[in-house]
Amino acid sequence: MKFIVCDTPNEIGEKIGQEIVALVQKNPHAILGLATGSSPLPTYAVVAKAYQEGKVSFKDVKSFNLDEYLNPPFEEATYRYFMKENLFSKIDIRPENTHFPSDKDPDEYDREIAAAGGVDLQVLGIGRDGHIGFNEPNTPFDSHTHITPLTESTREANARFFHSLEETPHEAVTMGLGTIMKSRHIVLIASDLTKVDAIHALLAGKKDLAWPATVLIDHPSCEIFVTKDVYEAAKK
Ligand code: F6R
Repeated sequence: MKFIVCDTPNEIGEKIGQEIVALVQKNPHAILGLATGSSPLPTYAVVAKAYQEGKVSFKDVKSFNLDEYLNPPFEEATYRYFMKENLFSKIDIRPENTHFPSDKDPDEYDREIAAAGGVDLQVLGIGRDGHIGFNEPNTPFDSHTHITPLTESTREANARFFHSLEETPHEAVTMGLGTIMKSRHIVLIASDLTKVDAIHALLAGKKDLAWPATVLIDHPSCEIFVTKDVYEAAKK
């Protein structure tokens, strides 16, 4: 696990965006694991710009998103919609090559990812409670894609995407920690101060079920991108 300290969220977006572009230039059939939320938005802007400038094509790329809400109150709240708005509509990825987990047969998602050849590069944000995907505290480190209740902390953090906390979904389907760990390379973004405690747990270097992201300590190729303010506060 390597920490990369950047001045701003945009600098993180530039670095990870360039990693994704370089990967797809080298391997046009790359398999990307993608996250939603605020953290990857600067990254997706860099990727979209590179496509618009003709530097890269995503026509043979496949994507597997980390998670999806169960029973979202309106279509615009789905993660599929989020990805379309913030990335897919701005690049030439084929809609049929974009995948999201489903509550019908969650475990099937692990088989689909494996059949596609496995994720080459997985993008992660991190929750204030240390979740990655929607693997909340005490999720087994070897878990597959599964349905999970969302903690109150996660619902409160995500209520900004809904009209009210009441409307914010209580459940989601998510890649498991074991699913995520199979990715060949992982980049995690922590670019706001609500993530300090979670990054502190990662810096402590000890796997702890209470902080799901600590599973990454065992990953052979994982980069943790943090802004300087988060890093300094987390070191204390
Ligand atoms: C989203 C996801 C979540 C978010 C996390 C941080 O697909 O898997 O783990 O990455 O909740 O969200 P933001 O970036 O909005 O702070």
